[in-house]
Amino acid sequence: MPSYLVAIDQGTTSTRAIVFDQSLAPIATSQIELRQIFPKSGWVEHDPEDIWYAVRETVRSAIHKANISPRHIAGIGITNQRETTVIWERDTGRPIHNAIVWQDRRTADICANMRRSGHEPAISAKTGLLLDSYFSGTKIRWLLDNVPGARAAADAGKLAFGTIDTFLLWRLTGGKVHATDATNASRTLLYDIHKGTWDPDLLRLFQVPASLLPEVKDSAADFGETDRDLFNHRFRILGIAGDQQAATVGQGCFRPGMMKSTYGTGCFALLNTGDKPVMSTNRLLTTVAYQLKGKRTYAIEGAIFVAGAAVQWLRDGLKSIKQAPESDLQAAKADPQDRVYLVPAFVGLGAPWWDPDARGALYGLSRKTGPNEIARAALESVGYQTRDLLDAMRADWPDGGTNMVLRVDGGLTVSDWTMQFLSDILAAPVDRPVIMETTALGAAYLAGLKAGICPDLDGFAASWRLDRRFQPLMDVTERRAKLAGWQDAVQRTLTSQG
Ligand code: G3P
Repeated sequence: MPSYLVAIDQGTTSTRAIVFDQSLAPIATSQIELRQIFPKSGWVEHDPEDIWYAVRETVRSAIHKANISPRHIAGIGITNQRETTVIWERDTGRPIHNAIVWQDRRTADICANMRRSGHEPAISAKTGLLLDSYFSGTKIRWLLDNVPGARAAADAGKLAFGTIDTFLLWRLTGGKVHATDATNASRTLLYDIHKGTWDPDLLRLFQVPASLLPEVKDSAADFGETDRDLFNHRFRILGIAGDQQAATVGQGCFRPGMMKSTYGTGCFALLNTGDKPVMSTNRLLTTVAYQLKGKRTYAIEGAIFVAGAAVQWLRDGLKSIKQAPESDLQAAKADPQDRVYLVPAFVGLGAPWWDPDARGALYGLSRKTGPNEIARAALESVGYQTRDLLDAMRADWPDGGTNMVLRVDGGLTVSDWTMQFLSDILAAPVDRPVIMETTALGAAYLAGLKAGICPDLDGFAASWRLDRRFQPLMDVTERRAKLAGWQDAVQRTLTSQG
């Protein structure tokens, strides 16, 4: 009986395929970096053909490395960078333009105009999102309005829209399936998360023809089979979820009140709120965490744009370290009396501030400030920003948000210093699991669930293993003083947009 699973993890900076065995242990990985295209300041694109090439190659290579027969693979799960928008021709499968990446700010003015016209409250009520260029809605509109002939072709039903999962599904199935899952749909600004349908009023508002849109399915569902020519075998595609939602699944955060935070380039924290969407009044997002057997589970989400990127800045911008782990050693050596704050608003500030025009700043420099103190400020900024998210979550959902434990994953969580500070500043335990590949694991599990070879949610959650729990050690007065300094630094950094 087939018992292996393949996860395709198509992220912002790289594409990976991971083969998992029957106990959901990763046994082979293949990875290809993704070229970033910056046509103008604030614009970020990917070439969909680069992505497609990387997916084919990594899947082939991971299966080859795993040294298993394709017949033993029960199914594929796809997880992806969310919101990134592709439009392609239905008859040729050719994209009409590069993918517009979630970080791209080219539609900020469209959003500002729509906000001024008073549309945001109604949009938020239906979608759980804010009117921001981060999401797909205005990216689709931009493509239809700016690529010659696109709007006419869309009106004639000749084009298809998809987030990256949908584009890959189309290509993997040889153009047979145009579908997505509810988590990805919930990031488009076009999807009513209460009813679970594309919303006709929103489609009108964003000027998106319904013919462009994929069918929305469960996160564990029958999404079709791969074209035989691709891998010399027809694999079943049985799971799809946006990467942050897949990590929520991979971390076993199935009960209301459970929360995960992924620290990559940025940081995304999701708090499971159960079967009722909790609408944020603190500028967080309400989103679908997963949909199984037609039943949606919701989450509140906070997104920070710069987390690990602050360490990259120490390495590549400031050149004060050669490799990321050195920042831990520097931070540990920093002068405790020196109170330097880095507000890493390199690309604006995300939740809960949403200030696209803010730019990074360092405060509190003294004659004694050196690389160690700046490294500490960079690592601390990750903790402070997470604390801002948690405070907003607690305010949004006082019932579920009290005894929070945070499960963490992503590259930056190998930094013990940062994880200890995170726990100190949150005044809450921080749990780091043994398996750090939680995003891919979540996608593999969703596929395995549909294939009938994985345990149910409780059984899977019980298999989660702790590597290390970080407990808060910081004294209350010290924590208060540090937080007050951070709040002051953020207030000074915000522009009038925030
Ligand atoms: O919302 C954007 C997010 O899905 C991107 O995640 O890990 O590809 O940077 P990542």
